[in-house]
Amino acid sequence: MESFQKSVYFLNRFWQKTTHTRKLGYSPEGTVKHTTTKKVNHMSDKSVTVNFPEGNSIELPVVQGSEQEKAIDVSALRGNTGYITLDPGYGNTGSCNSAITFIDGENGILRYRGYRIEDLAEHSTFLETSYLLINGKLPSAEELSSFEAQIKNHTLLHEDVKSFYDGFPRDAHPMAILASVVVSLSSFYQDEVGSPEEVSYLNSIRLMAKLPTIAAWAYKKSVGHPFTYPDNSRSYAENFLYMMFGLPVEHFEVDPLVAEVLDTLLILHADHEQNCSTSTVRIVRSSGVNLFASIASGICALWGWRHGGANQEVIEMLNRIREDGGDVKKYIEMAKDKDSGFRLMGFGHRVYKNYDPRASVIRKKCEQVLTKLNSDDPTLEIARKLEEAALNDDYFKERNLYPNVDFYSGILYKAMNIPVNAFTVMFALGRLPGWIAHAKEYSEDPKNRIGRPRQVYTGETERKYVPISAR
Ligand code: CMC
Repeated sequence: MESFQKSVYFLNRFWQKTTHTRKLGYSPEGTVKHTTTKKVNHMSDKSVTVNFPEGNSIELPVVQGSEQEKAIDVSALRGNTGYITLDPGYGNTGSCNSAITFIDGENGILRYRGYRIEDLAEHSTFLETSYLLINGKLPSAEELSSFEAQIKNHTLLHEDVKSFYDGFPRDAHPMAILASVVVSLSSFYQDEVGSPEEVSYLNSIRLMAKLPTIAAWAYKKSVGHPFTYPDNSRSYAENFLYMMFGLPVEHFEVDPLVAEVLDTLLILHADHEQNCSTSTVRIVRSSGVNLFASIASGICALWGWRHGGANQEVIEMLNRIREDGGDVKKYIEMAKDKDSGFRLMGFGHRVYKNYDPRASVIRKKCEQVLTKLNSDDPTLEIARKLEEAALNDDYFKERNLYPNVDFYSGILYKAMNIPVNAFTVMFALGRLPGWIAHAKEYSEDPKNRIGRPRQVYTGETERKYVPISAR
């Protein structure tokens, strides 16, 4: 059966069985039908009155989320008063209503679609969690196997994509390759890209299926090995590890423990509400561009050290401390000194003002896995000492700086032999279903508009043009 026909066949079977998903508004062609739009926040009967220096005032409605979080709806502000709100870094700005992920940073709570991250990490699989994020509910056994079958059906890359890898230098950062190849997929699937307001379910499946292949081939390119094609008899995580490390000259057995831990790490990364990359995906999507381009923009945003790039920086920092004699106190002092330009990587978070719940899960896994793999990785010991020293230091205590998800994930990736510059790629593999879910949620909102913040202009007022000869 031709690949496209196969896709349609699997999708039709999926749609026949997944009535819930139909209600959410996806059709097999990816057309959004606004059949039901879940109202995720409620106008309360409360309001706030803002008084302006000019003597006028405006009453702004207070809205309340399902976890009682409160917001002031300022959407009528500028039109009625000429004022805008100013919030650099968006620390106090809600950009949307969302029913996907709930975080309570003060209490270290993270839930996907209402389910605790700790429960999902213990009982779910990455693909089941992906289904949950994208479709809003846990799948039945039949729905899950259909979802898995669709993903398996799309793991291959178009053969022409292989030639792109020839153009990259051997030392290209894998995040650059990942973003480039993902956006290039939009040139292969032009027919299904659809109109700006549509989210293509088929393209979501393609992305879920192909990202591990794209990522593994980026590694193969860097070491000069032949590309390993996917083996669909393996699970999602196993298949990725097989494509990373399998070679045509020998049989490659994936360690089940390593595959299991990788699956858990992917679950922990899968969504984190309106973080930098997810907000990027939503805002890029809001321009009406296709899903591949939106996801590629999320990959680029994730790359930076303040976001997903921190896991690479953490391991480099731990290695540096080890090579420097293991004096953690020296690095704590450096992190406190604003002139040093050094920050403790893997510490602090915009939202968590308590222990990052993902870091707690990973820390436990780290201990288990390194013991089972008989690893005597000295970086774990440095990490433990650094964490203890920071948690007992007033600077870190006063600022609520706790280890975040990236602090321990790098140690696990290192134990799995993932190269350090591919750590952020692992984060991207995990975050993909979250990005897809947000792009889908955005497209389903009939009130969606292009994302277009305002600014307070601080430049020159009008100046007269001076000819170059007179300057
Ligand atoms: N080491 C030393 N000081 C820090 C650190 C750190 N890791 N993080 C924050 N601070 C200090 C910062 O200097 C500031 O101090 P002061 O109030 O005296 O000026 C205060 O804490 C608040 O920091 P901020 O930069 O205003 O906080 P933010 O919310 O804008 O930034 C952050 C959050 C994650 C970018 C920041 O904590 C950081 O740079 N951490 C290190 C990088 C890192 O681990 N990033 C991964 C984030 S988790 C993965 C993800 O979700 O992407």
